[in-house]
Amino acid sequence: MTTIKLIKNGPYMVEGDDVKVFDWDSQQYAVAKHPFYLCRCGASTNKPFCDGTHSKIGFKAAEAAVSGSGDKPAR
Ligand code: FES
Repeated sequence: MTTIKLIKNGPYMVEGDDVKVFDWDSQQYAVAKHPFYLCRCGASTNKPFCDGTHSKIGFKAAEAAVSGSGDKPAR
């Protein structure tokens, strides 16, 4: 099973034994460890992975899942 958790004011934490990350040209990124973290703030110098820059720039994420709100993913 794969899970993606939004870290408060931080990256996406991706957990799963067989998760692979590809670029737009189907080239696979090496994932050194699990779980791993994908940048959500846009400021990482190691995209698509988080390098901790979100803390330095004071990234504040607005979104959160609200139980029973009927939030649905964008299509
Ligand atoms: S979320 Fe960590 S550097 Fe962007």
